[in-house]
Amino acid sequence: MPSQTSNVLIFGATGTVGKHIARSIVESGDFARIGIFTSPDTVQNRPGTLDGLRDRGVEVIAGDITAHQDVEQAFNGFDTVVSCLGRTVLHTQLQMVELADRHHDVKRFFPSEYGTDIEYGPDSAGEPPHQQKLKVRAALRDVKDLEYTYVVTGPYADADGGLFLGAAPVDKEATGTFDVKRKRAVLLGDGNGKISLTTMRDVGELVVAALKHPEASRNRALKVNSFTATPKEIVAEFEKQTGGEAWDVSYTSLEQLKEMEKEAHANGDPRAGPLTLRRIWTEGGTLYDRRDNELIGMEDKMTSLQGAIEQAVRVQTT
Ligand SMILES: NC(=O)c1ccc[n+]([C@@H]2O[C@H](COP(=O)([O-])OP(=O)(O)OC[C@H]3O[C@@H](n4cnc5c(N)ncnc54)[C@H](OP(=O)(O)O)[C@@H]3O)[C@@H](O)[C@H]2O)c1
Repeated sequence: MPSQTSNVLIFGATGTVGKHIARSIVESGDFARIGIFTSPDTVQNRPGTLDGLRDRGVEVIAGDITAHQDVEQAFNGFDTVVSCLGRTVLHTQLQMVELADRHHDVKRFFPSEYGTDIEYGPDSAGEPPHQQKLKVRAALRDVKDLEYTYVVTGPYADADGGLFLGAAPVDKEATGTFDVKRKRAVLLGDGNGKISLTTMRDVGELVVAALKHPEASRNRALKVNSFTATPKEIVAEFEKQTGGEAWDVSYTSLEQLKEMEKEAHANGDPRAGPLTLRRIWTEGGTLYDRRDNELIGMEDKMTSLQGAIEQAVRVQTT
């Protein structure tokens, strides 16, 4: 096995977190060859994004993620595959894992994780949003030669649509909101439960660090994060950075959250999965005895609570 990653192929590099991961990989300057595999849809509709990547020396390979031949051919010459595919196509990684294991060049696979620890405890196995990712982990354990790394980050400390530090639409704020313009927050639980979060920028840096520490990250979940804070500490930082005035704060208790989650699953509401994740985070499912940042040289290089809120305020006000 090579002790170093030099050639990286990224799937889903144009997505929400994928673009941060791709940018960190490109900006690190540590990899000899960088490629992205992208869909015909992106080729047609987002040529500017792909040109921007090409300008930075990235090879753009277009193809269908469900087509054996396209994927197999794309693997040629890459020793590491980093998948950042979106939730609706996570299952396509099962075939990718099989093809990567058989491929002469590919040695390491990073499946699309970058979120909640899907093997946190005994109850994790039954959580609906974990099912596809669990299948991919099982496939990676079953294959012969392919190494793997799971980068587990907890929720994103970002304010883009639907993310933890974002403003929810007013009629959906009961599922949690930090609304800078309205100076209004709805906190989950009693507001005192700690949550570990990671900014998407840090997710990118952590993936690069994992790629550069292949021994430390071999065949394991790396449980990493930017910082740990309670919802009350988060809202206090928002207040400090928005003029010092107290925000209007209310709470959605864990029991209320569970009720909303149950109803959403029963009604086939697309918010069911996100609600389950928010319930898991509120129950403490992002807390570990120790985090793994140090293993990959990333203990002191993370965005602080203050830095994440500065960015969230900027995103919500510009
Ligand atoms: N921790 C958190 O708070 C959090 C939040 C969001 C997501 N996540 C995790 O991050 C990972 C990536 O999620 P994301 O939201 O960043 O993904 P995304 O933006 O929904 O999609 C990522 C990329 O996947 C490809 N793709 C998506 N749907 C496709 C389709 N139907 N057919 C073909 N290609 C398709 C596209 O790339 P191309 O067109 O370039 O091929 C797309 O840009 C997931 O594992 C997700 O669970 C975590």
